[in-house]
Amino acid sequence: MKWVSVYEMRRQARRTLPKMVYDYLEGGALDERTLRGNLASYQNWRFMPRRLIDLSAVRPETSMFGQDIAFPAVVAPTGLNSLFWPRADLALARAAQRCGIPFTLSTASSMSLEQVAELSSGRLWFQLYVIEPGLALSLVERAKAAGYECLVVTVDVVANGKRERDLRNGFGLPVRYSLRTLWDGLCHPAWSWRYLRHGLPVLGNFNASRVPSPEARAALLRRSMDESFDWAALDAIRQNWPGKMLVKGVLHPDDIERCRKMGMDGVVLSNHGGRQLDDTCMPLDVLAQLSPMPGFDILVDGGIRRGSDIAKAVALGARAVMLGRAALYGLACGGEAGVSHALSLLQEEYRNTLVQLGCPDTALLDAGYVRRATSAEGP
Ligand SMILES: Cc1cc2nc3c(=O)[nH]c(=O)nc-3n(C[C@H](O)[C@H](O)[C@H](O)COP(=O)(O)O)c2cc1C
Repeated sequence: MKWVSVYEMRRQARRTLPKMVYDYLEGGALDERTLRGNLASYQNWRFMPRRLIDLSAVRPETSMFGQDIAFPAVVAPTGLNSLFWPRADLALARAAQRCGIPFTLSTASSMSLEQVAELSSGRLWFQLYVIEPGLALSLVERAKAAGYECLVVTVDVVANGKRERDLRNGFGLPVRYSLRTLWDGLCHPAWSWRYLRHGLPVLGNFNASRVPSPEARAALLRRSMDESFDWAALDAIRQNWPGKMLVKGVLHPDDIERCRKMGMDGVVLSNHGGRQLDDTCMPLDVLAQLSPMPGFDILVDGGIRRGSDIAKAVALGARAVMLGRAALYGLACGGEAGVSHALSLLQEEYRNTLVQLGCPDTALLDAGYVRRATSAEGP
């Protein structure tokens, strides 16, 4: 494929997708300051390379939950993926497998968690939204039965963020057709052709037979989360899930510590890619202030578009990063092959950064290789 960076793939995604769909992929909450801040936070850290190190056998690999991964990254959970490409959840899962990293399937996936598990054989994690307590427990049971390795419970979507691009475009499911949306579709014929052949995404985990209780059906129709979901309810999920478990969407050090004490295997420091609360802290800055917590994995996401961003996060203490939009740009450019290309670009950039840094192994990449930019250097 011709693209040489994730940014180029982003430009192509913008051209390929109807505006309404691209805005759903790209947009953030309110004034999008968190969205921009995530990207800028990586520029606030500078490398301090070491020289004259034997770099003849550089190791970008690391381990996640005791098993090797090709580089310190995991594909993040994203909902409604089939808006970008048909059978997109499978395309993402297979591309992640080919690249040697885990894939996280969203509760709001377009294919069911059972289908994805059956049709792909890489490392699969399942992300849980607690929409209604009974529904959450049934999803946990299903993910267990389907053999998902890790449960990622997202806790930063009690209410949906106010995404003004989506409001302006009238974005929602089912799609409301207007002259503007039809014109948008006509201007993007390749996307429209795929959509006419495969249909718009459904919520694959929630067909009628899978959601028997009226409370759960009502909650789904409202498209809102269980607002009473709290630490005790999280603990109940922990008791029901024997595998690895991460909490995604925490930023406050007290919350991180509480997750550790509750027996979680780690957290994902995240502001949901700037899609929820504007003006939150940047996950990378929170990471930089944490003390090491042996046996407890810290993952970080938001704004990662370069392999060098991954190196900064690892240097500051992350076990791995999660890749959200970077993988979706690849998806929009070319389905499974596009995702594979985007992931390979990041993997190669990460490896190249290790070489440039004079760091022969991900395991040796620590805070000694970075420092915060001084105010004179600017972001
Ligand atoms: C289109 C889109 C859909 C998303 N859907 C979900 C989701 O269903 N569950 C979830 O936990 N996070 C979701 N996220 C957040 C991502 O998991 C991740 O936190 C975020 O994308 C990271 O920021 P980045 O896109 O800048 O890499 C979504 C993000 C995007 C862009």
